[in-house]
Amino acid sequence: MAEIHDHQRAAEWFKHVCRDVHGRLDGLDEGALASYIPELARVDPDHFAIAAMTVAGRSANEGDCDQTFTIQSISKLLMYGLALETHGRDEVLKRAGVAPTGDPFNSIKLDEAHRRAPNPMVNSGAIAIASMVEGDDLAARREVVLALFERYLGRRPEVDEAVLASETVAGNRNRAIGYLLLNEGIITDRVEETLDLYFMQCSILVTAVDLAVIGAAIANHGVHPMTGQQVVAPQVSRDMLTVALTCGMYDYAGEWAYTVGIPAKSGVGGGIVGMIPDVGGIAVYSPRLDAHGNSVRGIRVFEELSEEFDLHVFDADRPWRRNT
Ligand code: DON
Repeated sequence: MAEIHDHQRAAEWFKHVCRDVHGRLDGLDEGALASYIPELARVDPDHFAIAAMTVAGRSANEGDCDQTFTIQSISKLLMYGLALETHGRDEVLKRAGVAPTGDPFNSIKLDEAHRRAPNPMVNSGAIAIASMVEGDDLAARREVVLALFERYLGRRPEVDEAVLASETVAGNRNRAIGYLLLNEGIITDRVEETLDLYFMQCSILVTAVDLAVIGAAIANHGVHPMTGQQVVAPQVSRDMLTVALTCGMYDYAGEWAYTVGIPAKSGVGGGIVGMIPDVGGIAVYSPRLDAHGNSVRGIRVFEELSEEFDLHVFDADRPWRRNT
């Protein structure tokens, strides 16, 4: 009884702080919408959502939590998990390492010494990982990806066709990366099809609540917080969390690990998902981005929540780990 009471008090405190942080940061309009994909510049820049879900399925939602947006690079994390599950670590490591780069997400630079992409969170690594999705043709491979997302979301994901078309038109830099991977033998065939698959995974629509659920499942060693289903194997979720902590925020990953200390992944759609092992997932949606391509308000929310609730993975006193 006392424990239930504690959970309720903790949940109420967390909700209160989320409301307070949302209210204080609502007026922050620094940053700019991603415009290198024209369709991304058409979203409402003021949208702002904070969503959280614990590994036990308790949730807190504040702001525009029903608003959909494209998942963009956050898809790279789920795709990495899929590649690990279907091909195993050794095969995946042949194509993408685990070293943070300090370079922008769309850098055309490979890990020359190992003839592979530096990590699966930059575009080169993500395209290499997408090439590992099996299937006879694009439709079959799309189905594998959509089924993966369905396991996490608990519903059939939708693709934003306008963003997909826009990504495809604006995707020549990614094509350059794809062909470089082909040239190096990291991708062996069907490079255009793999690029189409990569553009599609980026164009999947989610809400902040969806991202919080995804985060909670990964933080819960792959067990979905609502269905109890094992959506990804525990050892794979460990690798996903590790790479999220070291590479998830691109060239900001070091600062992020230092200040926030929560494994996380961002996307240029404006989403950030953070995963607190054994505790839950936190997601922010706010589409104005900084120079690294990370949501400005998203970073601020995570900084404040990490500080307030001792969520840094190396904090000495992390009561939530035992009390979710
Ligand atoms: O490859 C691209 O350009 C995008 N579709 C995805 C990039 C992304 O989200 C990078 N994020 N911060």
